[in-house]
Amino acid sequence: MDHFLYRDGMLHAEDVPLNEIAAAVGTPFYCYSTATLTRHFRLFDEALAGMDHLVCYAMKAASNQAILKTLAGLGAGMDVVSGGEYARARAAGVPGERIVFSGVGKTREEMRAALQGGIRQFNVESEPEMDVLNEVALSLGVVAPITIRVNPDVDAKTHAKIATGKSENKFGIPIGRARQVYAHAAALPGLQVVGIDVHIGSQLTDLQPFRLAYRKVAELTQALRADGHDIRRLDLGGGLGIPYQQGNSAPPLPMEYGAMIREELGHLGCEIEIEPGRLIVGNAGIMVSQVIYVKSGEGRDFLIIDSAMNDLIRPAMYDAHHDIVPVVQPAVGVAQHPYDIVGPVCETGDTFARQRPLPPLQAGDLVAFRSAGAYGAVMASEYNTRPLIPEVLVHGDQFAVIRARPSFDEIINRDTIPQWL
Ligand code: LLP
Repeated sequence: MDHFLYRDGMLHAEDVPLNEIAAAVGTPFYCYSTATLTRHFRLFDEALAGMDHLVCYAMKAASNQAILKTLAGLGAGMDVVSGGEYARARAAGVPGERIVFSGVGKTREEMRAALQGGIRQFNVESEPEMDVLNEVALSLGVVAPITIRVNPDVDAKTHAKIATGKSENKFGIPIGRARQVYAHAAALPGLQVVGIDVHIGSQLTDLQPFRLAYRKVAELTQALRADGHDIRRLDLGGGLGIPYQQGNSAPPLPMEYGAMIREELGHLGCEIEIEPGRLIVGNAGIMVSQVIYVKSGEGRDFLIIDSAMNDLIRPAMYDAHHDIVPVVQPAVGVAQHPYDIVGPVCETGDTFARQRPLPPLQAGDLVAFRSAGAYGAVMASEYNTRPLIPEVLVHGDQFAVIRARPSFDEIINRDTIPQWL
């Protein structure tokens, strides 16, 4: 459920009509709903009630300071995957003890920054990384809390580019080698083992792969405890999917996910961490664009809009579906017309949808891409020297620009000319 609904014939974000935001900030723009963000965070928090837990928002999904501050204010921790994300989380006021550091390629500088600034745990993904973290911690005279990310060799049944839990993927250590690798970790004086980490992929629409992975983690917990390790924390990753297409079958709810976690892992008495990104922010954000031209092609009509693949790359990159709706509510019973919806970038891949039925639209009309809050703004680029589009946050009847559109001069002035030119 989200808070983007038609009211008085106009699509609103909470209590704000989207045409008002468009008039104030120009198109295209991203728009997020505080009420939806809040609701989704609470669903996870409540799903784990009764178990010691921390919901660490995977901020790679959307990392604007205002979004982080909103979630941090509700008690969220953060899952970060770079020094930049760590700095962003700290800048938003998230204390170090609520930040977990994931990622396959952490550098010494990133480790140092997190150890000095405060960190809940590093989710270590390889033995070489473990050795380097040990060295960095010893050089600072501290001990680094770690979990080790295990790869459970489970098929997440999602898009190949976002599946991470099969043995051929680059993530984690093979679960079959875990006891050996934990023994290695326990021998390093700069590290303290606190738990196990697993993350099998993103946009999972079925609980079964999670269940299989968590069952393997439960077995491993017992084995590692028998080996003498203090396994008190289980980081279960993110990945619960969202409904991208209205009317299509819905993925499991956070409550069902929480119940499954309790079933599989509740008896272990561990503190549970989860790292949801998409489910918290995906349906809490939309992208609003304007139709520039309606062009009649050979047997098809193109809606050429002012946003492009550089603003929302998911359709081009993952063949992802986003529902696209007119901002002005169509009259009841109006005949739909199939359009190819494309952006202005000079690539055929800059196509958002093919033969998508919509009410007849004209140049100047506004459309909204639903479910664009996760992996939208953060994956945008300035390809074709198209400025990064603004982000707007709505809160009840208020809205604020939380990232402004840069001017052409700001973009151009980031380049520097060498003295020989
Ligand atoms: N934890 C780790 C270690 C991850 O790698 C990810 C996502 C998450 C948590 C959060 O997963 P979520 O709850 O958002 O599914 N750009 C792609 C998705 C990439 C996901 C990468 N890792 C997309 O637009 O579909």
